[in-house]
Amino acid sequence: MPKVVHTVAELHKILQPLWRKGEPVGFVPTMGALHAGHVSLMKLSRAGGNVLTVVSVFVNPLQFAPGEDYDEYPRDLGGDVKVARDAGVEVVFAPSVAEMYPRGFVTWTDQDKITEKLCGEHRPGHFRGVLTVVLKLLNIVRPNNAYFGQKDYQQSVVIQRMVTDLNLDMKVHVCPIIREADGLAMSSRNVYLGPKHRTEALVLHQALVRVHELATGGERSVKKLYGEVKRIIGQAKSAKIDYIAIVHPETLEDVNDVSGRTLIAVAVRFGKTRLIDNVLVE
Ligand code: PAJ
Repeated sequence: MPKVVHTVAELHKILQPLWRKGEPVGFVPTMGALHAGHVSLMKLSRAGGNVLTVVSVFVNPLQFAPGEDYDEYPRDLGGDVKVARDAGVEVVFAPSVAEMYPRGFVTWTDQDKITEKLCGEHRPGHFRGVLTVVLKLLNIVRPNNAYFGQKDYQQSVVIQRMVTDLNLDMKVHVCPIIREADGLAMSSRNVYLGPKHRTEALVLHQALVRVHELATGGERSVKKLYGEVKRIIGQAKSAKIDYIAIVHPETLEDVNDVSGRTLIAVAVRFGKTRLIDNVLVE
């Protein structure tokens, strides 16, 4: 069983001997409701030369806007500890909100430009909450290697940028998207989908596979690729598109044509469930 700790002090007792000896620590930040996507990050940490892997489980209130799903977000620490155990993780850090944000907490981390695009445009304040909690967690765990998923592509770019801009001495690893057998990207939010929306949600992956095929086959027109994504997603009657983005993979600025590396990312709502997915055209 992994050690499960709820306070920074308990965690530091475990980590201090490793820090002293300079032994590499791996870190996988999560909000719990762990699935195979999270497990893939844990396995990469285990295989990545770290002597110990810490997984944090913390549903971060700062990154949810009022009216979003903070209260409904699935929570199952007992189940998460078992998943972490099966993945061979040594430590689960599951702090309370009061441990992370004690009375008097007023300091935030923020970022310009990249956070204003894609999900940032549709979820104001979201990345400010993500950056704040991730910087705190990185300061608490002081990992040598931190693992994030390409599933949340913009999040990984924003975090990599923070690590560079603020001289955090660690390596950020961005890991491939893990999918269900039928192509739906794994997400803790998939449990919200009823049977109808679960079937309809397949259009996301179908649209991305299709435009990836077109783009690697030589199609360069942003307009054509955009139209194709929109058409395929439109086949799902309840799909409400937040955005379809065809952008530069680091700046997330719009591209004029698909000639270099390009990110194609989508965010779509099915009822109250908001799903994101993306593909990189190399
Ligand atoms: P959460 O959604 O729990 O995701 C934790 C990590 O798992 C993220 O890096 C995410 O990109 C990765 N992940 C999720 N689904 C994945 C999939 N299908 N394949 C591969 N990786 C996947 O992202 C967060 O939590 C939070 O914003 C957090 C960074 C923990 C800050 O609160």
